[in-house]
Amino acid sequence: MVNIAVLGYGTVGSGVVEVLRTNQESINRRAGQEINLKYVLDLRDFPGDPVEEILVHDYNTILNDDDVRIVVEVMGGVNPAYQFVKDALLKGKSVCTSNKELVAKHGAELLEIAKNNKINFLFEASVGGGIPIIRPLNQSLTADEIVEISGILNGTTNYILTKMSKEGLAFDAVLKEAQELGYAERNPEADVEGYDACRKIAILSSLACGHQVDYEDIYTEGITKITDIDFKYADKLGVTIKLIGSSRKVEGGFAAMVAPKMISKEHPLAGVNGVMNAIFVKGNVLGDVMFYGAGAGKLPTASAVVSDVVDAVKHMGTNIMTIWNTRKAELVDIKNVSTRFFVRIKGSMNEKLDKANAVFKGKAVTVDGLDGEFGYVTAPMTEKDYSSAAAEFNGIISMIRYEG
Ligand code: HSE
Repeated sequence: MVNIAVLGYGTVGSGVVEVLRTNQESINRRAGQEINLKYVLDLRDFPGDPVEEILVHDYNTILNDDDVRIVVEVMGGVNPAYQFVKDALLKGKSVCTSNKELVAKHGAELLEIAKNNKINFLFEASVGGGIPIIRPLNQSLTADEIVEISGILNGTTNYILTKMSKEGLAFDAVLKEAQELGYAERNPEADVEGYDACRKIAILSSLACGHQVDYEDIYTEGITKITDIDFKYADKLGVTIKLIGSSRKVEGGFAAMVAPKMISKEHPLAGVNGVMNAIFVKGNVLGDVMFYGAGAGKLPTASAVVSDVVDAVKHMGTNIMTIWNTRKAELVDIKNVSTRFFVRIKGSMNEKLDKANAVFKGKAVTVDGLDGEFGYVTAPMTEKDYSSAAAEFNGIISMIRYEG
């Protein structure tokens, strides 16, 4: 029998308890022995909930109990989760976590402690909720050099963009509705500004390149400037708009970014709608694979956490090698990365097209009934060249990167 403790009885924590109870028999069979939930840690009390019998308020009870071999951290946030997790690992307890802030910031260090102690630090649920992606990257796609990881990594923004696309609604109206339905947080900043997706692509990039990718180094743009008019142009161009977290191998290293992009309707990520997430991976010998599913939510996230517990039990006494060291990865400066850009240009096309062709060397696009502006898709150019060209071009209303 293996004793485990769960830190945090919120949405994911209560989901973990529910999954362990619902699938107790098959989970134990797959783990090869009985998993016993010995403690749940939370500051609150839960009168009437069966968890009360094993509820503790002091972390030291768990830390100092040598019978607890696995700690499940589902509290979220860096403090006190970081100290709790580090202390558990130093005491020889494996840790399974869903905490993307913690993993993005301290993953390399915590993995090293786990390795030194022949235990495991596992974080399948930290990216893509219930979608298996960490274990496939670490254990399945090992014959490949990963050349690209691109994902729809945030359900809230994908829900908003999907609604805007399908119903022609404005950003603010959809955000309000998403908040009323409980899909978007009251404070939606982390989602709509791309910060949540940024932490997730930082984790995936670190695993792809084997070094610490700091999320502060990743260029991040959210979806707050995307309008219903952009979707009209997108329709005309046969593309859709998605918030994409991407990490690509280019000359000189990895280029990582979170930004809304116009992608072809044929791209596998284009059909990922609503709150669903997907991660597209390109290997140099495998080619393309995609992982799709529920990127958040109580039970999908808990399912991924419990799968880590099963893995930790199966690998008791051995460390599952994960190549992600503390050496900082130098990302390629995105200024030197090339892409195409969709721009909306204010004014008459008759007057401005020649100049646009001369500067951006691409093609114009118009939308019936939309006067006083036109759209333009540039030729591939570096971010740096685009910025200087756009600064000199009078009348650019907005820009979206274009990968149609
Ligand atoms: N707020 C996140 C989302 C939850 O919308 O995808 C999972 O990190």
